[in-house]
Amino acid sequence: MTERSTPLFLRAVRGEPVERTPIWVMRQAGRYLPEYREVRSKTTFLGLCKSPELAAEVTLQPIRRFALDAAIIFSDILVPVEAMGIPLDYNPGPVLGRTTRSKEDIDALTIPDPVKDMGFVMDAIRMFIREMPDTPILGFAGAPFTLAAYMIEGAGSKNYAVTKQFLYEQPKQARRLLAKLARTVSDHLIAQVEAGAAAVQIFDSWAGHLSRDDYLTFALPFTIEIVDNVKKAGAPIIVFAKGAHSSLDELSQCGADVLGVDWTLPLDVAAEMTKQRVALQGNLDPCVLLGPVENIERQVQRILNEAQAIEKGHVFNLGHGILPPTPPEHMAALVDAVKRNGRRRTP
Ligand code: CP3
Repeated sequence: MTERSTPLFLRAVRGEPVERTPIWVMRQAGRYLPEYREVRSKTTFLGLCKSPELAAEVTLQPIRRFALDAAIIFSDILVPVEAMGIPLDYNPGPVLGRTTRSKEDIDALTIPDPVKDMGFVMDAIRMFIREMPDTPILGFAGAPFTLAAYMIEGAGSKNYAVTKQFLYEQPKQARRLLAKLARTVSDHLIAQVEAGAAAVQIFDSWAGHLSRDDYLTFALPFTIEIVDNVKKAGAPIIVFAKGAHSSLDELSQCGADVLGVDWTLPLDVAAEMTKQRVALQGNLDPCVLLGPVENIERQVQRILNEAQAIEKGHVFNLGHGILPPTPPEHMAALVDAVKRNGRRRTP
């Protein structure tokens, strides 16, 4: 009987020794891949998310092409928002059918049943596992603050001014909205773990727009609530609060196993700020993948050197999602550079 060793990604996430730094890339299934554009040309973005066969297929694409160490299920952070009763469209960024800015708007939101209302996500996870049982698959969800920002604005925003005005003018309603989102996201993440997700990531993409005080008041408590709820399901948890550097010390005590770091903060500095409590994930600037391969290799080496200061695990990733104009050969060069040079010092 052959014994399979625990995948590198899961060992790094748990802070166990690894012989090589694992790598996956945020938005690794997407428009930079011709095979994604081919599948996508036949349906809408939400149609793709809601077809488990197609979602599993595009999730597999970057794994087949680049042999990455983990996959992330193809979906979107706004899928649960639609399930709460908000009509959703993409053009190409999300456009919501109505805004959420009053007590009545919040009362009208339902708490979805993840299996009944978003079962296609769990079906896609199970299909992926059937096809590729040795590659750990991540489930994910948006953090309450980032989801609330889309709901309050009705779309993306440059400065989230309407969102902040709502937080300041109606803090009680804001907390009710954030609590409803925390419940919805917890249930959704637990369902993904029950379907077989090996780990989950919580994306707080717009955390960096908040002051430290506002982040600690309106964002972190609801992320902690989710971590507490999802921990019981047993899978490791990655929290990526982009730009929330001033709260890294508090974040490293939120119960997550791993914190994502964007490219503006060196990983050795992040390791010190988080007092070595957690593993770290990151942090190449996605724009580096647009440029010459020599620079990709140089910057990968720099990050791997900085990551030697992390006492727990390091998971190589970008500091945010891969950009659509990225040449797939540059992604291949990145994976190759990490696999060749990502040797970890044995503790
Ligand atoms: O490969 C993966 O990482 C899994 C798939 C994934 C998508 N969205 C697919 C997608 C994941 C993890 C997300 C998360 C997501 N969605 C976030 C958090 C991560 C981040 O980037 O901060 C956010 C903020 C969203 C909201 C969202 N969805 C935006 C802003 C957009 C437009 C992006 C753009 O580049 O135009 C989307 C649409 C979306 N989600 C696309 C993909 C592949 C592009 C849609 C298309 O194919 O036309």
